[in-house]
Amino acid sequence: MLLSEFRLKGKEPIYKQIKNEIIRMIEEGFLIEGSKLPSTREVSELLKISRNSCIHAYELLEDKEYIQIVKGKGAFVSHKFKKKGSKWQVDWNEKISDFGKTAVDLDIVKNEAVTAKNMISFKSIAPDEKLFDLEEIKRNFLSSVSLHGEKLFNYGYAKGYKPLIDYLKIYMENKGVNLKEKDLLITNGFTEAFDIILSSLTTKGDAVICENPTHNTAIKLMKLHDLNIIGVDMEQGVINTLKLKEKLENNEVKLIYLIPSYHNPTGVVMPANMRKEIYELCNAYNVPIIEDGFNEELLYSSSHVSSIAALAGEDNSVIYAGSFSKILFPGIRVGWIVADRKLIDVLESIKRSRNIHNSVLDQAFLYEYLKNGDFEIYLKKARKYYRDKYKFAVKCAEKYLSCCKVYGDGGLHIFLELPHIYARRLLDEAMKNNVIFMPGDIFYVDDIKKDTFRLGFSRLEYNDIEKGFKIIEECIKKLQK
Ligand SMILES: Cc1ncc(COP(=O)(O)O)c(C=O)c1O
Repeated sequence: MLLSEFRLKGKEPIYKQIKNEIIRMIEEGFLIEGSKLPSTREVSELLKISRNSCIHAYELLEDKEYIQIVKGKGAFVSHKFKKKGSKWQVDWNEKISDFGKTAVDLDIVKNEAVTAKNMISFKSIAPDEKLFDLEEIKRNFLSSVSLHGEKLFNYGYAKGYKPLIDYLKIYMENKGVNLKEKDLLITNGFTEAFDIILSSLTTKGDAVICENPTHNTAIKLMKLHDLNIIGVDMEQGVINTLKLKEKLENNEVKLIYLIPSYHNPTGVVMPANMRKEIYELCNAYNVPIIEDGFNEELLYSSSHVSSIAALAGEDNSVIYAGSFSKILFPGIRVGWIVADRKLIDVLESIKRSRNIHNSVLDQAFLYEYLKNGDFEIYLKKARKYYRDKYKFAVKCAEKYLSCCKVYGDGGLHIFLELPHIYARRLLDEAMKNNVIFMPGDIFYVDDIKKDTFRLGFSRLEYNDIEKGFKIIEECIKKLQK
């Protein structure tokens, strides 16, 4: 309690000593504005002094406007703390670690051009929230809270919410993945999954192969882990297997990272036979595969291409990372890893050491949503919605951007190759005309100027897609003059 360490001393009147002590505490910032002082009875009992001395001290404090006495409620500090004396300013720039500096350097949200109001933005590949049915969301949220109650607000398990884990296991089995001796860990989206996989299996300088171009966040994480990133160039939007073999042959490779379905940024779906060919190549060189299945569910045609994890059968060589960020709600940040049981055990400990676990509430809500069949309904709706937009975007590309090579089988974006024009020059020109997009170079592991760019259409209205393409066409013509 306040004043419990205070000792009366000397001959100075007691009320003065108490008043001065409280003033000292307020002026030194130990008692902040609005905090409640102990009652005069409590102080008198604590210090074994008369209550009148305390009342007198409080009255003087109120006169000097240090405190305010509210009838029936007590005495409250009314003085704002202002630190006197020296200003201690740490030079944080000097102290920031290399990791921190690299994270800032690679942060495209901070370093890339910002979307201004009224711009047509092709930058994002986030889902269109117009598809989210708030009534269904509310119903599932309330039902998860009423079914599981207080438990949802206590600590949970690092591995994840058990019913959700069990649901996803069946879900993966239905996708043809053999779960014998495998396990599943819930993560904070793909991003955390990839980060903890790298933490568990790589050390500084290890060689990791990826497609070139690839997901920018994956490049960022591999750089933050100080890995030797070996990009294998893509041709017609898919990895060149001859070049892959050459890289596997000539390097001591630890892992390979692949995005076989609706690749980011090319949007291409890797054909089934190529998946098998790559699997066998990696097998020959004993290089395990991290498969990013983030967009797999958005298949636009009825023919289902098996994931590499499914092709692996009982082998334990594929680490599959899934995510609900594109196929459902990115805001709840739920992803998952399916891998060898012993590996998941290690990943679980890393996850626990970093952030204990994902939000139990979010996982329970998601489980309710999935279990009730709302996900299936949503997926049906989303597939049609994005398929129609994709077809429209391709049509617009054929009409307005016929000078470009267009890549992409679906998903939420298309990828374009310009006729020998540096994409950032086009971006500058487009921004002058209120159109913005992702320049290709952020997706490559090398620093060569690129003539490619990505157009995300998921959240744009049809008329804006067409208007934006027209503007880009005009900008290209201008740059070609
Ligand atoms: C290739 C790829 N994988 C995964 C994701 C999803 O990441 P997260 O689940 O962390 O939101 C994205 C998002 O853009 C992506 O492009």
